[in-house]
Amino acid sequence: MQREISISEFFTKNRHLLGFDSPRRALMTAVKEAVDNSLDACEEIGVLPEIKLEIKKVEDKRYILVVEDNGPGIVKEQIPKIFGKLLYGSKFHKLAVSRGQQGIGISATALYAQLTTGKGIKIMSKTGPRKKAHFYELHLNLKTNDSEIVKEEEKEWDKEHGTKLQVVMEADYVKGKRSVDEYIKESAMANPHATFYYKSPVDDWVVFKRATTTMPKEPKEIKPHPYGVELGILMRMLKETKAKTLQQFLTSEFSRVSPKIAKEICEKAKLYERARPSRIARQEVDNLYKAIQQVKIMAPPTNCLTPIGEDILIKGIKKEVDAEFYAAVTRPPAVYRGNPFQIECCIAYGGSIPADNLVNVIRFANRVPLLYKQSDCAITKSIIATAWRNYGLSQSKGALPTGPAVIAVHMNSVWIPFTSESKEALASYPEIVKEIKLALQECGRKLASYVRKIKKIEHEKKRQKIFELYIDEVTESLHKLTGEDKAELVKHLHKISEIRTIGESKDEQ
Ligand SMILES: Nc1ncnc2c1ncn2[C@@H]1O[C@H](COP(=O)(O)OP(=O)(O)OP(=O)(O)O)[C@@H](O)[C@H]1O
Ligand SMILES: [Mg+2]
Repeated sequence: MQREISISEFFTKNRHLLGFDSPRRALMTAVKEAVDNSLDACEEIGVLPEIKLEIKKVEDKRYILVVEDNGPGIVKEQIPKIFGKLLYGSKFHKLAVSRGQQGIGISATALYAQLTTGKGIKIMSKTGPRKKAHFYELHLNLKTNDSEIVKEEEKEWDKEHGTKLQVVMEADYVKGKRSVDEYIKESAMANPHATFYYKSPVDDWVVFKRATTTMPKEPKEIKPHPYGVELGILMRMLKETKAKTLQQFLTSEFSRVSPKIAKEICEKAKLYERARPSRIARQEVDNLYKAIQQVKIMAPPTNCLTPIGEDILIKGIKKEVDAEFYAAVTRPPAVYRGNPFQIECCIAYGGSIPADNLVNVIRFANRVPLLYKQSDCAITKSIIATAWRNYGLSQSKGALPTGPAVIAVHMNSVWIPFTSESKEALASYPEIVKEIKLALQECGRKLASYVRKIKKIEHEKKRQKIFELYIDEVTESLHKLTGEDKAELVKHLHKISEIRTIGESKDEQ
């Protein structure tokens, strides 16, 4: 028997697609969805984020997660939809840089929590100092993908504005790589303008204090670029547009299409520029699509991007990674499939970073740490494909480099091409791989010149030591020959040894 499948039923069976495949990973994903939303929300109104995250153990494999922010809060009517309905959000239809993009993150967390413990999500939100806070407890109806209100009330909350959510879920808290601890630490690196208060189930509160009060640039929304639009999307856009003519459609719905370019596209597609968009037949859309690819259209605007910036990226990494050398590179904007993007990279070297391990790779997409699926990610692949021996790190064929280094790479874009809904690895578009490699090489060159310098200094120190081994003997001989004062001779010889070794390498710096 055939029957329609609701989106909630689908994800109930395919929870791994959303990052809930094991209790350990589920906790990570839930934290990530809530924290990402909080950071996005704060930045939307330009307030420095103060995020509070608490994880409490209730019993074996069952945890409570509480996340609170000082964002704008959510208006009453929206709360049930946001938290109790999959695929509902404000970011999907907007081409602008944000952490969230699909409209599924937080409701999927609520769905998972409900499936594993039977308990609904609790939300408190307040939109202004003179407003009352709204409290909701919600359940998700799996058949209809709609929310059911279990409890609803007005509350006093001594906070100007913000949102606090609480879920009880099957989960597992484990320390180490890919842990919530690591996620928060890396979030603090990529968001040096945010302060995080974090309480794990086993430790005391930890504060990750902000390192800058400079807010990230406000993201600008852009229209899609014609090169990035697929045939099916083009058909839908033609049906839905308010534009009266084809020319108007092209100039108003896309970026970088002037009336002249629109005319050129219409001519190439053998379509009348004053044709009604909704009347264009299937075959003609095909021609239009092909014509778009043939006409030279300027790259999309890139002022919509919000890179972290070299100085602030170093500040962020410095506060969490104790190294002796830091270098960062922010590449100029580039474009993949009509989407503008920008790559940044930071290398930290030496200090307390262990020397004999593979380098620690830290991946960020729109400032969100990516902890899973490392080997599937364009960032990891590009790091492996870079010749690190040229830059002072050792490397076996087909592997990550080895040495006392941390390599962080950030992709900023209006649309991040994740390999799956759980948003963990970047797809390897050639343009993206190329930019990552260029950023790594540029950063690598800075590292190489530093490593050369240290190696030279080490070498000269060794030479100086050898030199000094003979000072006593030489002093005796010189004293016998010239009768000069021994102490004076020793002082003089030490000076010569320094000038001839370290002194010379210092001069070259
Ligand atoms: N803490 C919050 N404060 C204010 N608004 C929020 C908050 N959390 C969520 N929202 C709103 O709810 C919407 C849905 O959130 P959700 O996490 O489900 O999707 P998203 O963030 O748009 O995309 P993604 O699925 O990629 O996370 C968001 O688009 C945002 O408008
Ligand atoms: Mg989200």
